[in-house]
Order: sequence, then C-alpha cells, then structure tokens
Amino acid sequence: MNADVPMLLPVSPLGVLRKRRSAKWQTYPADVLPLTVAEMDFDLAGPVAEALHEAVGRSDAGYAMPGPDLGRALAGFAASRWDWEIDPASVTAVTDVGVGVVELLRLLARPGDAVVISPPVYPPFFDWVREAGARVLEVPLAHDAAGWRLDLAALEAAFAAGPAAYVLCNPHNPAGRVHTAGELAALVRLAQAHQVTVISDEIHAPLVLPGATFTPLLTVPGAAEVAVSVLSASKAWNLAGLKCAAVVTAAPRMAALAGRFPPDTRWRVGHLGVIATVAAFTAGEPWLDRLLVTLGHRRDLLAGLLRERLPMLGWDPPEATYLAWLDCTALGPGNQARDLFLERGRVALEPGLRFGAVGSGYARLNFATSSDILDQATARMATSVA
Ligand SMILES: Cc1ncc(COP(=O)(O)O)c(C=O)c1O
Repeated sequence: MNADVPMLLPVSPLGVLRKRRSAKWQTYPADVLPLTVAEMDFDLAGPVAEALHEAVGRSDAGYAMPGPDLGRALAGFAASRWDWEIDPASVTAVTDVGVGVVELLRLLARPGDAVVISPPVYPPFFDWVREAGARVLEVPLAHDAAGWRLDLAALEAAFAAGPAAYVLCNPHNPAGRVHTAGELAALVRLAQAHQVTVISDEIHAPLVLPGATFTPLLTVPGAAEVAVSVLSASKAWNLAGLKCAAVVTAAPRMAALAGRFPPDTRWRVGHLGVIATVAAFTAGEPWLDRLLVTLGHRRDLLAGLLRERLPMLGWDPPEATYLAWLDCTALGPGNQARDLFLERGRVALEPGLRFGAVGSGYARLNFATSSDILDQATARMATSVA
C-alpha cells in the first residue's frame, strides 16, 4: 500500500486503520482523517508483536513484575543508542510518563508552589502540575530564525524566584526541538545555582530524526544531583495503551525521591506494557531504525506538500518526533485554521491553544502515517482554505 521504498515501513489501508479501537481512530467520524493524538499508523515492530502474542499464548495477563528486566533492557538500549550508562537498579517502573511526573511533583512541590514549564508544550504538562497541587509558571520557548529553543535568560529569571521544579520536554513536543548539549549544560548550571529540580520528560528521545543528536539530560555533567528523567518505549514503538514507563535517577537524593513513591504505584504498571517495552528495548532497534528513515521521508514529503499546497503556513521541520507544529497565523488567531481544516476539509489536527496561549494561530499535525494519507490530508486542507 505504502511501501514507496522497500526500506520504508508499510501502513495498512484506511479501512484497516479505521478498525483500530484506539483514541486516534475513534474520536472523529469516519469521514475525518485524524492527524491528531500521538499514535502511529505503522504496524507494531515484529519482536514486540511476537512478545505480546507469546504472552497471550501463555494466558499471561496478570500483574506486572518488572523486576530487573525493565532496568536492564532500558540500560542496554541507552548505552547502545546514546552512550548513556544507566544503573539498572536506578530504574523505577511507573504506569506511564504522566504518572511518573505527577508522583515526582507531589514529592517536590508543596501546595501552591510554582512549577515551571515551557509552552507551547504537550498539553498535559499544565494538568500534571495542577494534579500535583502546584501552580504553573510559564516560561515560553523562544522562537527566531533558527527555530524554537529554550529561553535560558527567562528561565534564569523564573528559577531565581524559587520554583519547586522545572518540567523539561526533551525532545520538545510540539516544536520537535532537540535541545543541544550546550543548552542543557546551561540549564543544569541554572538548576544548580537556584536549587531547582529538573524533571526531564524524554519520551520522544528514541524518535530523534536523521540529522540531529539527542543528549540525555542525566549525561550532562552535574545533572545527576538536580535532575531525574522519565522515559518510555510508548511513543517510538506505539505502545501507549499498554502502560509502562521508567523513572531514571543517577544520584542518591534523586533515587530517594523514586523510593518514596506510594507503594501501590508498583501494581499500576501494565504487565503487557512491561513485556512489550522489554522486547522493544532489547530487540526493537532494527525496526526503530526503519521507523526513523520512514519518518524522515514523511517529514520531507510534508515539507514539499506544504510548500506547494499551503504556502501560507509556516513551520520549522522537527528534529525529532513525528509532529509538525504549523504556524497558521496567516489564516487567523486562536484555533480558527484548525477549525476550518476540520469543518471544511474533514482533516483533524490538534488545536494550537491546547499547548498554551502562545499556541494561538498554530495547529499540530501528526505525520506518522502513509504518504497517501498525507497527500489526501494536505489536499483537503488546501481546498478548505481556498
Ligand atoms: C512529551 C510527552 N510526554 C508524555 C506523553 C504521554 O506519555 P504517557 O502516555 O506515557 O503518559 C506524551 C504523549 O504524546 C508526550 O508527547
């Protein structure tokens, strides 16, 4: 169907995709092309599917027992991919990245304390801070000719006011920015100087596209004392519904935080999630490499389609993720463009305002799909604004 080049991952036809019961395929009526929530349309990686089939074959659907397997699998992957040495014993299984961040914030922030985030950012960041009883302090990303980046001067001013924590998105959703080693070193210096704990959400780390290099925050000198990272296989191998993520620490003070998670968090991890995650991290790299080539191809394809059909839209092609943060301000403020694309074009994008007030006039497009669907979607978007 979609194997433009044999190396690229195939995507099933629309009729097959629409049978999926997940949020991406069940939120909108059947005439809408959903390019919304961060799920991918590719088939599962072979080793992941096999591990899940085998578990079902064993009727192995009880409670999770992450044991040492999850930590060892993540440590092996991080060493091979990023030269990052993780002590498997410093890995704590959690239900998902959201639960990991909320439990960390509950321990770090007293009611009403400020927690800094950098919009435009993954919408639940706002919710997680509030769920932990804290108050959101926004320090937006800066945008210039080089694209989106951390506003280190504004972060310094915010850190000086003594917030309880900063939740970093590395790589950044929706901007697709991979923060550089130099930016992260500067961030760590600020965190040390002002004693602000950094929680680094690195869920998109395996999704760094050709041309960019990921720096795990905990590999930055001095970071171990002030930072904790949360990772998962759920974005890169499309396992979000299976519920498994990992909190990683590298110094006793941070390990003590994870040690204080409520005892029952251990029972809230998905058993099939652990099985799939261990398979992904131990045997899923060849598939991941094909995925990244495929996503690089879709990013280039989208660039051409936007240039040709929707020249009024702006974007900085992402260095990571399969998300395009589209500047639609030429079509109006707020969510006007996104509403037009949905109502007239029957193409669903994520509304920019969900990512913070700075998302006014923007929309987020998920390009982890087939060339055909991107072709159809951009054609319909162009017609809707013609
Ligand atoms: C930056 C970021 N963090 C967390 C999540 C969600 O992770 P989880 O389902 O493990 O909570 C997403 C999902 O797209 C994301 O983009």
